[in-house]
Amino acid sequence: MDESKRGFLSPSHRPRDSESDLGSPDFLDKNKSPGKTSRAYATPKSRIVCRPMSGRPSIRVLLIGLAAIVFLLVGGGGFTYRISGSRDGQSPPWYPSPKGGTAKKWAASYQKAAQLVSKMTLPEKVNVTTGTGWSMGLAVGNTGPANNVGFPGLALQDGPLGIRMADNITAFPAGISVGATFNKKLMYERGKAHGIEARQKGINVILGPSVGPIGRMPAGGRNWEGFGSDPYLQGIACAETIKGIQDQHVMATIKHFVGNEQEHFRQAWEWGLPNAISSNIDDRTMHEIYAWPFGDAVKAGVASVMCSYNQVNNSYACGNSKLLNGILKDELGFQGFVMSDWLAQRSGVASALAGLDMTMPGDGLGWADGKSLWGPKLSQAVLNGSLPLDRLDDMVTRIVASWYQLGQDNRTLFDATGPNFSSFTDEKMGVMAPGSPTEQSLVEVNKFVDVQADHAKIAREIAIESIVMLKNERDWLPMSRNAEFGVDRNPWKNKKLKVGIFGEDAGPGEGPNACPDRGCNQGTLAMGWGSGAVELPYLITPAEALEKGFNASRVEVTKYLANDLPGLEESRALEGRDVCIVFANSDAGEGFVSWNGIKGDRNDLRLQKGGDELILEVADNCGGGKGKTIVVYHAVGPVLVDKWINHKKIKAVFAAHLPGQESGNAIASIIFGDESPSGKLPYTIAKRAEDYGDGGQVMYTPNDVVPQQDFTEGIYIDYRWLNRDGLFPVDPQFSFAYGLQYTGFSMDNIQLEVKKPKSAFPAPRPAPGARPPVYNGTMPAVEEALWPKDIRRLDKYIYPYIDSASDIRHGHYPYPEGYDTEQPLSGAGGDEGGNPDLWETYAVISIDMRNSGKFPAKAVPQLWLSYPPNSEATVDFPKRVLRGFEKFYLKPGQSKTVKFPVTRRDLSYWNVEEQNWMMLTKGNYIFSVGLDERTPVRQILW
Ligand code: BGC
Repeated sequence: MDESKRGFLSPSHRPRDSESDLGSPDFLDKNKSPGKTSRAYATPKSRIVCRPMSGRPSIRVLLIGLAAIVFLLVGGGGFTYRISGSRDGQSPPWYPSPKGGTAKKWAASYQKAAQLVSKMTLPEKVNVTTGTGWSMGLAVGNTGPANNVGFPGLALQDGPLGIRMADNITAFPAGISVGATFNKKLMYERGKAHGIEARQKGINVILGPSVGPIGRMPAGGRNWEGFGSDPYLQGIACAETIKGIQDQHVMATIKHFVGNEQEHFRQAWEWGLPNAISSNIDDRTMHEIYAWPFGDAVKAGVASVMCSYNQVNNSYACGNSKLLNGILKDELGFQGFVMSDWLAQRSGVASALAGLDMTMPGDGLGWADGKSLWGPKLSQAVLNGSLPLDRLDDMVTRIVASWYQLGQDNRTLFDATGPNFSSFTDEKMGVMAPGSPTEQSLVEVNKFVDVQADHAKIAREIAIESIVMLKNERDWLPMSRNAEFGVDRNPWKNKKLKVGIFGEDAGPGEGPNACPDRGCNQGTLAMGWGSGAVELPYLITPAEALEKGFNASRVEVTKYLANDLPGLEESRALEGRDVCIVFANSDAGEGFVSWNGIKGDRNDLRLQKGGDELILEVADNCGGGKGKTIVVYHAVGPVLVDKWINHKKIKAVFAAHLPGQESGNAIASIIFGDESPSGKLPYTIAKRAEDYGDGGQVMYTPNDVVPQQDFTEGIYIDYRWLNRDGLFPVDPQFSFAYGLQYTGFSMDNIQLEVKKPKSAFPAPRPAPGARPPVYNGTMPAVEEALWPKDIRRLDKYIYPYIDSASDIRHGHYPYPEGYDTEQPLSGAGGDEGGNPDLWETYAVISIDMRNSGKFPAKAVPQLWLSYPPNSEATVDFPKRVLRGFEKFYLKPGQSKTVKFPVTRRDLSYWNVEEQNWMMLTKGNYIFSVGLDERTPVRQILW
């Protein structure tokens, strides 16, 4: 086999991607950002290591660095680990960086962009690619403008569930809740509302949605920002979200590309180690699991991709040419721009060569120090010949073309002229660059524009549809507001029903925004913590919504909104209760915040703050043992429920995920039966943490100076793992897509319509639909990049200018190995989203679905695919994979025929030898339709 075709982990290549020009640590520092958020980072001060762009480290800095390493190696962190040699060669080189402007859909935008870029000066080009520095503008990310040609600085803002650090916005349910709805329309609607809010707040680029982490490890701290532990679900959800956002002329960012599956060691220095963890992922797994949803995002026309902090196969994701140039830009045909995660860029020229187009927040190796790896260094690198001018031109053109593509040049479509709020102060007046020590005049930075409109309705619908009912013994629920119950209607006819609500998670705690970035677990849990969190405009607690919901003349409600058991006993709150509704939760978040020993990733999959004990206490003692209990928990992901799920007194259980501001209203709607629950688990709930396999466990202790996380389970994550041995599957507690309803459905008449015959490989890669712009290539004069005389410099602000012409020295730049070998174009590529044939429908499966129960409800049938058991493939396949889902409303007795179109990509696997998607032509594909992963109801072969 041709070694160059193997993709990742091919030992025959010895590239020097960005990681190899990293230096040693300089210092360990905790910088606090000013203003609203207290974001602590441990980062080295800038020492630019890309030689032509670097300065000399001082002796003091070197000594401190050495001391830090000795400290680490001697076990100062409470651990020891082996020191390994260089792992160069595990991520093959892919050069040169493919130019944007090859897709027909983008052609007009590229033409316009070319006009503008051709008139830009060198510093203007650099401005467009480089952030101005942390808190050097009103948004979390700000680029410099190209004033002479009228191109504005761009404002970039988190995050996936709403506008971060802003007032008067909607706090939508988190991604994991959106995934649990299995509702494409709501996925789109949330994106749309988010886009409207961003535009009206003056934001050009939303830093979301997130599909990485995908959820390999159920305890992963940021899984909740994405849509669930399955690439197909993530792909559909992110594409709908992106369309929603971008239809509002706001650029979406799909993040984090790729392999940022855990928070521990995600970033150099944040965890006391000089380098970030390496996610070691084989080629097939990369394609079928981790990069898969990014394909949907690109196909949906996403404007931006954020590369992640971690390394992939021992090359930093933001400097990994195979990932950015090869997979993203060539194979997936990505036309927008790649931005770095905040400080994920670890090299200067090397990362540009590897395909990075924009650096964020602009500061380089050190948090908020104003020393960029690009900015003036990029000007220098172009002028001294290290970075080819046409790479810079492509970087800028990609950004400007994205701006045109979204219609942001059109004042009637996009009327914002920068953010009308500040991420860094709540005051009306403030400075434009709060991160700079230079004195600045006060201006009106917060205009308090209310952008919420009626988005609470969408937030509530999602929150309702994301609630998964795990148990409802003998149709015990719903209960009406007059205290009548499911099967045994009105058992308390002649007396007032006594309901008790228990648990801190039902109540307000110290208020919804008590901790910065929601970085603590207190009160009812509406979202996880970190950059993916927002300031809640309000939070309807479950306790208040339930209390308000019950008819007070029929029901007496009491509340005990804490988890402490002695207190509960003393309060006698359980006495005399007929029904007890107990709440608990489990929280996690981004690694820069740590709460109660949880450093981003959860330490286990249990309920927190004594939730299990509280539930047992309530269930045992509700009404002196005579009452019945309902359990509701809010959580960032799977929770082990084994301790109480089969408790006789627990009649109903709900996994209510992360509902955002409308929390209480949502759970009340479900308990009272305004709607049937229709949420489905976007992950598997296993019986034991070990059941997720070795690959499902977070690495909490580093196993190397560069922690090495081998994804040895390959494509077998979540349900694929539990089911990997078809004959002896591990039984889950609740399977993927599980979720009970107040009604039942029957399915019949499964049909297959073949649209195109099977064939092994997609049609040949088509010729590009458009040509990238060609510039005249004239090197700018050095003088162009010198500091203008009339500029007022802000200290620490990142400018594109250089001090003197003598800064430009020519010499040999150590280009990465393989840089001169032009890579063959991928047969899987050819247009935005890859080879168009991959997106063609090859078969349609249809089935008749009927609401066979007594309650109106939304049905959520899924299509599951099993690869032909006796095919020509020499690789193995998961027992089944998700390849379709739909959601629609059926009244009792009503039926509907539902169709699942299946594309070539859906039917293919990634053939490593051929480096292409391959369909199996021998044997039969098995299509199953069912209501969860484990119980296919009807099957048909093709
Ligand atoms: C996160 C990103 C986020 C960025 C800006 C980083 O720490 O990983 O997801 O968009 O900060 O806030």
